[in-house]
Amino acid sequence: MAGLQLLFLLTASLVIIESKIINEVRHEVRKFPDNFLFGTATASYQVEGAWDEDGKTESIWDHVTHENPCVTTDCLNGDIADNSYHLYKRDVEMMRELGLDHYRFSLSWPRILPTSFPDKINEAGVQYYNNLIDEMLKYNIKPMVTLYHWDLPQKLQEMGGWTNPNIIDWYSDYVRVAFELFGDRVKHWITINEAHAVCYAGYGDNALAPLLNIKGVADYMCTKNLLLAHAKAYHIYDEEFRPTQGGSIFMSIIAQYYDTEHEEFAQAAEEANDFSWGLYSHPIFSETGDFPKSLKERVAAKSAEQGFPRSRLPEFTQEEIDYIRGTSDYFGLNHYYTSFVYRNESTMNYYESPSFDDDLGVVMYTYDDWIIGESDFTKFVPWGYYKLLTKIREDYGNPPIIITENGFASHGGLNDDDRIKYYRHHLSAVLDAIEDGSDIQGYTAWSLMDNFEWLRGYTERFGLYEVDYESPARTRTPRKSAFVYKQILRTRELDMHYEPDTDRFGLYEVDYESPERTRTPRKSAFVYKQILRTRELDMHYEPDTDVMTIDEGH
Ligand SMILES: *[C@@H]1O[C@H](CO)[C@@H](O)[C@H](O)[C@H]1NC(C)=O
Repeated sequence: MAGLQLLFLLTASLVIIESKIINEVRHEVRKFPDNFLFGTATASYQVEGAWDEDGKTESIWDHVTHENPCVTTDCLNGDIADNSYHLYKRDVEMMRELGLDHYRFSLSWPRILPTSFPDKINEAGVQYYNNLIDEMLKYNIKPMVTLYHWDLPQKLQEMGGWTNPNIIDWYSDYVRVAFELFGDRVKHWITINEAHAVCYAGYGDNALAPLLNIKGVADYMCTKNLLLAHAKAYHIYDEEFRPTQGGSIFMSIIAQYYDTEHEEFAQAAEEANDFSWGLYSHPIFSETGDFPKSLKERVAAKSAEQGFPRSRLPEFTQEEIDYIRGTSDYFGLNHYYTSFVYRNESTMNYYESPSFDDDLGVVMYTYDDWIIGESDFTKFVPWGYYKLLTKIREDYGNPPIIITENGFASHGGLNDDDRIKYYRHHLSAVLDAIEDGSDIQGYTAWSLMDNFEWLRGYTERFGLYEVDYESPARTRTPRKSAFVYKQILRTRELDMHYEPDTDRFGLYEVDYESPERTRTPRKSAFVYKQILRTRELDMHYEPDTDVMTIDEGH
């Protein structure tokens, strides 16, 4: 891929010019709609730690990281992670500091059901989630709960995991327990996080647990079972719980956007979108239901060529198609970047065969100057986000959208202007789509704080808060982006030019909007205090106290 990127570097400046035309950045202060929800997100294995405490059993992530520690970039695992199992009160304090409307977190299946099944419910695990939910609700922060964010019980994996159709029952038994335990207080349920990552990276590759890597077969089996499990969870909630609990339930779909620089590859780009997220959104949101036509046709044709007696993509019956269609109250959208694609003779034998990538048969590329900051993990292509949001509105009759993830990786550090730039420009694209008529009702930043980034370990940092993994206390410190996000939430406005803490002279900030003229210490106040306390000048002291204050009323 590096060579490929070089090849295309020459035309990169052209793309930048084109992207400005597609989506001109606007500089006036812009208002978000009334009732727009702002939140942040995390996931159980990435933050909780306490991997075997209080009766929790092994998940596939415990398993792969213990089997082979250096499966992760830094040879670290989520045994302790951010220790949120013990530090949830500090997490909620951070939510209050930011002024969040909602916080998205996930339940760990093996923490609640240690046998994988509902024959035994782990009271201590349930208590943890009750504590977290109740602490949030004390401050009016709505829980948005993901039922499955990748930490499958290892025992179920040994029985085939998502390739075994019995998982439709296993999963629905588990979610029914969750609705019963927490549904009185949880009004936003997410069935599955990023099905495409689960199946493609976990079953068709070795980029996520369970590292199965059975290409072009296990991934499609997983996809079918997972869609049916999702639909069953939806119907259970809709029929048995919604009448009394009155919440919503939806899927979070990872949709990177695929575009092309050359008209001749327009169909290839369309099919890249069909393959990588249409395979989940089309069955749920389209008029006809079922997998996208291009996916069915290409996999069937390739399978026949390869000597398979039937398509490697399992079919749905009409009954299953009807059962899945319409089973998401929102389009839960996760998005990080855009790629260009092409497809011609040179791409025909590019991938191992059979495989999902070979079935799609396109090559993807991005430009080096789409990378901002020191990490190449996320790219900066806000115009692609705008085009994606437009496509969802146009293809599916403007479904209500809740953005359930969007964010930016760095390698650490508090002064994260790149992350601020990423958030501002992506929020600006969201406002552009809303102005065009998209029904986008909420935005969830990934992530509240640094956490275990799967096979990248702790090398990629997505947090609005930095987490100090050297300290047993896992100290959380707000980055500059946290102050900017807080200001967006407080004003309900996007101001591309707001600079936190630098506009006035005081060591304490005075709030001229409040009749009490509330005084709040700036970071400089903490540094000055330290100088006074120690009677020493330390050029490197970083205050790790609560620089952030809590807005009461949140
Ligand atoms: C395929 O398309 C790419 C991108 O436009 C181009 O660089 C390459 O030369 C093409 N290859 C062939 C064999 O046509």
